Amino acid sequence: MTLAQEKPAVSATVDHPLEPLTPDEIATAVAIVRQEKSLKTRFRFATVTLHEPIKETVLGFQPGDTIEREAFLILLDNATARTYEAVVSISSGQLKSWEHIPDVQPPIMLDEFVECEAAVKASEEFRAAIAKRGITDPDLVMVDPWSAGNYGIADEQGVRLSRALCWVKANPTDNGYARPIEGVIPVVDLNKMEVIRVEDYGVVPLPPKDGNYTTEYVKEYRQDLKPLEIVQPDGPSFNVKGHEISWQKWKIRIGFTPREGLVLYTVTYTDQGEERPIFYRASLAEMTVPYGDPKPYHYRKNAFDVGEYGIGSLANSLKLGCDCLGEIYYFDAFITDSRGDVAQIENAVCLHEEDFGILWKHMDWRTEHTEVRRSRRLVISFIATVGNYEYGFYWYFYQDGTIQYEIKLTGMVSTAAVMPDEVPKYGTLIAPQLNAPIHQHIFNVRMDMSVDGPNNSVYEVDIVPEEDEHNPYGNAFYAQSTLLSSEQGAQRTIDPMKGRYWKIVNPAKTNAMGYPTAYKLMPGENTLPLARPDASVIRRATYMTKHLWVTPYSPDEKYPAGNYPNQHPGDVGLPEWTQADRSVEDTDVVVWYTFAHSHSPRAEDWPVMPVATIGFMLKPLNFFDENPANDVPPSPKNHGSKHACCG
Ligand code: NI
Repeated sequence: MTLAQEKPAVSATVDHPLEPLTPDEIATAVAIVRQEKSLKTRFRFATVTLHEPIKETVLGFQPGDTIEREAFLILLDNATARTYEAVVSISSGQLKSWEHIPDVQPPIMLDEFVECEAAVKASEEFRAAIAKRGITDPDLVMVDPWSAGNYGIADEQGVRLSRALCWVKANPTDNGYARPIEGVIPVVDLNKMEVIRVEDYGVVPLPPKDGNYTTEYVKEYRQDLKPLEIVQPDGPSFNVKGHEISWQKWKIRIGFTPREGLVLYTVTYTDQGEERPIFYRASLAEMTVPYGDPKPYHYRKNAFDVGEYGIGSLANSLKLGCDCLGEIYYFDAFITDSRGDVAQIENAVCLHEEDFGILWKHMDWRTEHTEVRRSRRLVISFIATVGNYEYGFYWYFYQDGTIQYEIKLTGMVSTAAVMPDEVPKYGTLIAPQLNAPIHQHIFNVRMDMSVDGPNNSVYEVDIVPEEDEHNPYGNAFYAQSTLLSSEQGAQRTIDPMKGRYWKIVNPAKTNAMGYPTAYKLMPGENTLPLARPDASVIRRATYMTKHLWVTPYSPDEKYPAGNYPNQHPGDVGLPEWTQADRSVEDTDVVVWYTFAHSHSPRAEDWPVMPVATIGFMLKPLNFFDENPANDVPPSPKNHGSKHACCG
């Protein structure tokens, strides 16, 4: 089996076991699999990522230790429609495992986007369908390869499908999303890369109005905007070594996968000389965007942008435009195209600092002595474009130990055309005959917690009024903590009227006052999925039905809707694992938080949508002995101009 004699193994050039695969390592991993399995070109490489070492190896790692490098690959054989998983030792040049995974579909790959569009445009049946709508130039058509879901339809089983949605531009620079080709769905076999059929639900005229927003089209800009510069004369306050970031008391290691995009590892905060862990690994583990329109050509719109498309593989190169101000450090990401060639996303991850208003303040009203500190946060982010939509993913680290996760939603709303007299119930008219269907964006972040060490417990905290017998004046209320001891009981939803939050506690560690050290998970905006319990998307993304799930750590349990959600019938991932009702008390726990944004589009979301945000916070809860940001120095006195104010 070994290739060591034939091919020199790549010696590890990285200095930590969690460093992402280098371009050389990716190329070596692909070459080893190709050679060992004599792969033909019909194989696609869906993902090639670091096969993460076990936790003990990572946590016990000392600089200078030998690092064994392994890659994990998902491959698709276009000829047989079979999916394989492989593990390769890059260090020894060996293929360690090769397994056929039956009845699954890897995510739709970026190359397939391009090839699918070409196949649709070449289809005579499709050309005939668009000709009926007065469209004669297929070059102006945009084909977005939407995932097909799973509706138990017999002749779809085992076929790698896209049900593409199409739009048409008026000219090459026009925003095509202004003109949906309504009612035409080319159904494409992505293995054969050919159109199986074109579904046609009847002609709806193209909406009449353009929807352009680029500089080429905006003829008049507001004139009253003066420059606002962020100046960091001594550079930023962070240090970067490989993919490890140090910033004040924080230490964060990052990675990047084609599926999840940005991954955080081994996040610690140094307190009184001690480097204290908070979590081991955190990433966006799944997201689902169910649409609410029951029309026959709309009811199957449910994009799983992580598991069905690979949100990391769709990351923007921020070379092409980055909205961050100040001193910026960029990380490149290295993935593969579907043929296994190394693909570089230059400047995929942005690292910078932001001034964030006031951190704390007090004025002694007798003496007028005032102490005020400005807050600064460290921002680690990336932005992905999924067809029409943009998602920005931001981790923020604050000086007081707070961690925040925020998703910014922007780009183009998904559009549909309606008849001239139609007022849509399941959407909003954003231009004449242009409907933006109602939908939800539902996200799940997996957090492998390690608050002050691996063994943690999770409590639900509600702020509740006291019972009458202990409440003579009626004013009493308190924070009531309930241990969530096993998986079934730890499936919870938010309750804003009780100020509900969850705390992740280390039962073996206490702060100066004797409280167990903890971080609390504070929900932000949230809601539940609106699809009926028996809807296909609920079965496929059951994780959406609870805001909190807690599981004991298992290295194989990484994705809440299963490893292969594309076209999967469901009942896998969190609902499957948690049936065992394993204990999650005083053990290595993984916390899964689901958060949902219901989007009933507005006129103001067109032609390009201003950012909407959603996310959550993790705040230290008796983790420290006192405000850890007490030692943040005052800002220089002469900071800013005479016009400067506070806040
Ligand atoms: Ni939306």
